[in-house]
Amino acid sequence: MLKNWKVWVAAGSFVVLGMSAGAWSGQGRNAAGEGMASRGSAPSSEAAANPPSDAAAEAAFARAWTVFASPRCMNCHPAGDAPLQGDDSHVHTQDVKRGPAGRGLYGMKCHTCHQDANTPGLNMPPGNPKWSLPPANLKMVIQGETAGEFCRQLKNPAMNGRRTVEQVIEHVSKDDLVGWAWDPGDGRTLPPLSRAEFVAAMKKWADNGAACPK
Ligand code: HEC
Ligand code: HEC
Repeated sequence: MLKNWKVWVAAGSFVVLGMSAGAWSGQGRNAAGEGMASRGSAPSSEAAANPPSDAAAEAAFARAWTVFASPRCMNCHPAGDAPLQGDDSHVHTQDVKRGPAGRGLYGMKCHTCHQDANTPGLNMPPGNPKWSLPPANLKMVIQGETAGEFCRQLKNPAMNGRRTVEQVIEHVSKDDLVGWAWDPGDGRTLPPLSRAEFVAAMKKWADNGAACPK
């Protein structure tokens, strides 16, 4: 009994190592993502009890949407060409504009004010080495969208930089700017779910076939 248990643990850690190595190297992201999905669904008793369903996917996406629609995400995913600020998502002051690459225009480059880390204090610039908006040709708009509209945008290869659903999951799981939303600096509210709950909802959406709310 004990011997079997040890073998199971050894096999388990091997799988975990293999998964993170694949994801970390960034090679074969598709293959790694699919591998993860199939390994992940096999032992899940929930998946066995509830076969994949559009209704479950739509409900999971609606839950994840509460995070996308929160100011911490939406402020960098505006409909127009200026970032937004604050919990009321007002247009960024000082006439800051997106620019083609999302890093600002002329003297108003994001890094003029936004450092590699949050500047402490109320109303001080938040920071991250990658601080920028999505580029002008791939805006990934959240502001003004419904959950269903945003879901379809997220899955549309022409609008998401030809990413697969697995790559979108990888982005929300690992990306630094996404992570910033849960460490946003003084005086800013957090998204309504933890990052783990948010990623779990996105995975549930994908595992159920990634159907979009109406
Ligand atoms: C500081 C600005 C900033 C913040 C804050 C931010 N994003 Fe983004 N987001 C970007 C940029 C820039 C890109 C495009 C670059 C890229 O794809 O890596 C992007 C791209 C994306 C994409 C598209 C990537 C894909 O795989 O299709 C998703 C999804 C996304 N962000 C989700 C979020 C979520 C969720 C949050 C909040 C938890 C968030 N973002 C917060 C700047 C931001
Ligand atoms: C002239 C200085 C300056 C420039 C240039 C600048 N910002 Fe800001 N930004 C700030 C300050 C200061 C704040 C904090 C405002 C506050 O919290 O009241 C801020 C806040 C933000 C926020 C709000 C974060 C949140 O969730 O509340 C976003 C998003 C943002 N900036 C994006 C950008 C982007 C993207 C660029 C480049 C295209 C940029 N900023 C350029 C000074 C600047």
